[in-house]
Amino acid sequence: MINIAILGFGVVGGGITEVIRENAESLKSYVGDEIYVKKILDLRDFPDSPYGDRVVHDINEIIRDDTISVVCETMGGVNPAFDFSVAVMKSGKSMVTANKELVAKRGIELCEIARDCGVLYLFEPSVGGGIPEIRSMRSSLAGDTVTAIDGILNGTTNYILTSMERDGADFATALKEAQRLGYAEANPSADVDGLDAQRKIMILTAVATNNLVCESDVYTETMTGITPEDMDAAKRWGGTVKLLGSSRIDKDSASLYVCPCFVPKSSLLSSVSDVYNAVSVVSPVTGDVMYYGRGAGRMPTAGAVVSDVACILSGLAAKEKPCAWQAAPEGWARPFSENSFEYYVRVKTDLATEALESARLSFGAVKVLEGAPEGCVEYITVKTKEDITSKLISEGSLGNVESVIRIMN
Ligand code: HSE
Repeated sequence: MINIAILGFGVVGGGITEVIRENAESLKSYVGDEIYVKKILDLRDFPDSPYGDRVVHDINEIIRDDTISVVCETMGGVNPAFDFSVAVMKSGKSMVTANKELVAKRGIELCEIARDCGVLYLFEPSVGGGIPEIRSMRSSLAGDTVTAIDGILNGTTNYILTSMERDGADFATALKEAQRLGYAEANPSADVDGLDAQRKIMILTAVATNNLVCESDVYTETMTGITPEDMDAAKRWGGTVKLLGSSRIDKDSASLYVCPCFVPKSSLLSSVSDVYNAVSVVSPVTGDVMYYGRGAGRMPTAGAVVSDVACILSGLAAKEKPCAWQAAPEGWARPFSENSFEYYVRVKTDLATEALESARLSFGAVKVLEGAPEGCVEYITVKTKEDITSKLISEGSLGNVESVIRIMN
């Protein structure tokens, strides 16, 4: 029997016990022994749970237990998760985490401590829930160089955008429904303002390059301003709106950004609906690869935790090269203002001809989008640098701009 422990007996932590119980036989045949959840750290007591007698309130009960070999962290947040993870690894135990905030903010130190302690620190569940993209990117794309990543990395916002597209709902109504279904938190900011996707694109880019950027290096835009009019325009244009976490990687630099984008129907990403996530990875040798699946939720995320545990216990993970992330060197993260996009623009005006003339003067050329709402003109620009577009808008050169949305590159 191999003993493990869980830090945090919440939605995912509880799911881990369930996955291990329900898949005991297949796990045993993969690992070679039975996996037993010996201790669970939580502030609360769970008298009605069959695991209630394994709940402890002091991390030292896990750290000092030499019979525990792997610890799963599903607490969330940076502290005390960071301190607990360090102490656990220093006691010679490997760790698996679903905590993307911790990996994005302290991943370099945690991977280094794991290497120093001769243990493993795995984080497949931290991005894309049940989607096994991290191990695949690290191993199956090992002979290639990732040049672009585009992901629908947040299930909550994808659910909101899908119901806006499908039911014509406005943002507030779609958010309320997402909260009712338990997808969105009471305070939905981390999801809708793009912070969750920001952390995930930081992690994926570090997986691809070994360079972990700071949060401030990732241009991050909320999706709360997307309206039914925007969704309708995207449909007339031939696509939909998705919140994308993207990374464009050159030999010596990268640009990371999170923002709502028009995504054409020709892209598989446009058909990723509801709480599903997808990660599209481009590399010169392999070409396009797409990972798709359930990006959030109790069982998919718990399943990814248990898979990482199984990879450690089977010996597979020890054969993989340990993560050797470094802080992205000065200047490696390119300023967002240097990127170029085509833009969808909606201008409120009674003087459509004049508004289009200004647009043509500003951008060189634009393509009019037919079927604009009453009192508006809509157009798609040619590829233009981000700083030029921002200046045109802020200086009022385009008139009364109601909406500007980038088109996926
Ligand atoms: N709040 C996240 C989401 C959970 O909606 O995708 C998974 O990271």
